[in-house]
Amino acid sequence: MKDTIRKLAREKNAIILAHNYVPADIQDVAHLCGDSLELSIKAAETDADIIVFCGVRFMAETAAILSPEKTVLLPVEDAGCPMADMVTPEALKKRKAQLPGVPVVTYVNSTAAVKALSDICCTSANVIRVVESLDSEEILMTPDRNLALYAASHSSKRIHLWEGFCPFHNNLDRKTVAEAKKAHPNAFFIAHPECPPEVLIMADAVTSTSGMIRMAKESSHREFIIGTETGLLYPLQQACPDKIFHPASPEMYCPDMKKISLEILKSTLEKESGRVTVPEDIRIPALKAVRKMMAIKG
Ligand code: 13P
Ligand code: SF4
Repeated sequence: MKDTIRKLAREKNAIILAHNYVPADIQDVAHLCGDSLELSIKAAETDADIIVFCGVRFMAETAAILSPEKTVLLPVEDAGCPMADMVTPEALKKRKAQLPGVPVVTYVNSTAAVKALSDICCTSANVIRVVESLDSEEILMTPDRNLALYAASHSSKRIHLWEGFCPFHNNLDRKTVAEAKKAHPNAFFIAHPECPPEVLIMADAVTSTSGMIRMAKESSHREFIIGTETGLLYPLQQACPDKIFHPASPEMYCPDMKKISLEILKSTLEKESGRVTVPEDIRIPALKAVRKMMAIKG
């Protein structure tokens, strides 16, 4: 099946991108795996005619925003992100009207229509640099409350929160982390900034999914507790076969990221189904917000 998928991709000049949370067999067959920031950059750089995005809708939309001339395919059309759905363009317009002149920073985990209403995007990997890059002392951040609180803890700026969250990261609590730490007293605890602040203060490090892989590789620690979606355990173990990784909680499981299978991926390539497009009146302002983020170095 994997050979057939790779052959189909070659014939169609297609590139398969996979987020770090998707099932192991999909990560194995993908040309590139990574976090949200890496995948948006790769999507923009590729000269493939077709991008198959193994992830959730906002990721495929970001690829379509960056590459309107390419065919962007989302294998599972209803793979969504509950956090992205926690901010609508209508609600954001209303909030912006209450905060005139305050720039809007929007997490890439958002719809194209919400990005289009934002001044700049951010990811879990660059949120602090993005906040610091703005010359306003006041900022509105959407949709992730926890990511905004994390940025606020590293900045003197006044950050207005949006009450969105990732249900699977937000559910991680102090008791569960304390139990994991007790069970693995020598483990280094790395948490994703989508976790609540009371959990982040218990962490030895806070970073994005690919940041966790890099950190585990470079660290002198042998054992880790991983505070993010459990799909990340697979690429971590691949990158560091001699190290031990424990999930902070086995309940950190995003069903939308697991909807894809090799059969669905093969059929997507065969039929070129699941095309994602973004209308130009949304794409142009959304592109501006994504490009502004990508121009930030570091
Ligand atoms: P990153 O891969 O950017 O850390 O994002 C995590 C996530 O929740 C993606 O949906
Ligand atoms: Fe959205 Fe959370 Fe799933 Fe990421 S893990 S896609 S933020 S619901």
